Amino acid sequence: MPTKPLVKSSLRELANVFEATFHSEPDFLVRSPGRVDLIGTHTDYNEGWVLPAAINRSAWLAVKTLPTPLVTVYAVDMGEQVAFRLTDLDARKTLSGQDLPGWARFAAGVAWSLQEAGLATPGSQIALSGDIPIGAGLSSSAAVEVAYGLAWSHITGWEVDRMALAQHCQRAENAYVGVNSGLMDQFACLFGQAGHALLFDCRTLEWEAVPLSDDVTLIIADTGTSRALTESHYNERRADCEESLQALQARLPDIKALRDVSPEQFETHKDVIPEQPRRRAAHIIAENGRVRAAAAALRNGDTAALGRLMDESYLSTRDLFEASGPQLDAMWEASQGHPARLGGRPVGAGWAGCMIFLAKADSCDAFIEHLDQHYQAQAGLTPTIYRVEAADGAQVISES
Ligand code: GLA
Repeated sequence: MPTKPLVKSSLRELANVFEATFHSEPDFLVRSPGRVDLIGTHTDYNEGWVLPAAINRSAWLAVKTLPTPLVTVYAVDMGEQVAFRLTDLDARKTLSGQDLPGWARFAAGVAWSLQEAGLATPGSQIALSGDIPIGAGLSSSAAVEVAYGLAWSHITGWEVDRMALAQHCQRAENAYVGVNSGLMDQFACLFGQAGHALLFDCRTLEWEAVPLSDDVTLIIADTGTSRALTESHYNERRADCEESLQALQARLPDIKALRDVSPEQFETHKDVIPEQPRRRAAHIIAENGRVRAAAAALRNGDTAALGRLMDESYLSTRDLFEASGPQLDAMWEASQGHPARLGGRPVGAGWAGCMIFLAKADSCDAFIEHLDQHYQAQAGLTPTIYRVEAADGAQVISES
């Protein structure tokens, strides 16, 4: 796979576009990866466990510092440019007084969040590009947020505590963009390690890199559908989880999050929760167990067990958490019956976008062909199916 040359030439191209747009050279470049989550559907904001990996698909920035408190971002792939003042971020307006478009709110939101934390965000000219599909569950939003955060830390020279930066970016997404997402995506983007998945405890913030076996390949199957989390049921699911927690706290006053509820406690006390939130909680509590079992399976080289857990995660996501969707279901069905297949589930929040499949490395091409043909026949849509590799976390790249 021509991963490295591709990334390098794309960054070079981005620097060229920057020069053509802003008539000067960028000071530096940033690469910030997307992520896949092998397992852990919606467990992160319930203070549970997740098992993501950063991937070799990234957002890229070319950046030049300016002496004025103004940011201009040129979104190369959309052909759109926006400028906004760093002194009036609450207004969410462009320099010409229009509402900031959704894609520009990530830049403004990160600046807003860093300023709230007392960190400087100097003016800059930025060209943005990348090869993470948008709204497909591969965390293009977090990749872009982290890229801006790293850029500002590089410009000002403040010491990057990567976990704190992940949290600043999460706050931008929660309080500025308006999606109550957890910390998984920003964490994976900043802490990724080539060839490894990351077992992350979203309460203690402890994590462990678990090697991915060479015997398996990670396959992304893009259903050809996308969703915006601001328009999806993401915040509703989070509210359902909170309702379950509050109901359970009437019987279990010591619990602080669904993460604290054992499967046995849930069975004993679940009658106190209304029906819909109860199904959400049933998913979260079992999923937390599956994430840790999946990490153990990976450590033991038991990729078949990991695949089975991914399938269980899918079924629970579909039936209890109701965060699957018709095309994701069609893709999962289409994947059945091939000997290279080990397991699969939706990536990210769900509802639309991509599935991740774990397949035996030596016959994954045949599996990709099988998936492609069967999905087209079932869903009438053309999927985009490709391998991804677990990659290193975001980094500033100096041009020289
Ligand atoms: C999105 C969010 C994450 C996480 C997943 C679901 O990717 O950004 O924080 O909640 O959905 O697991």
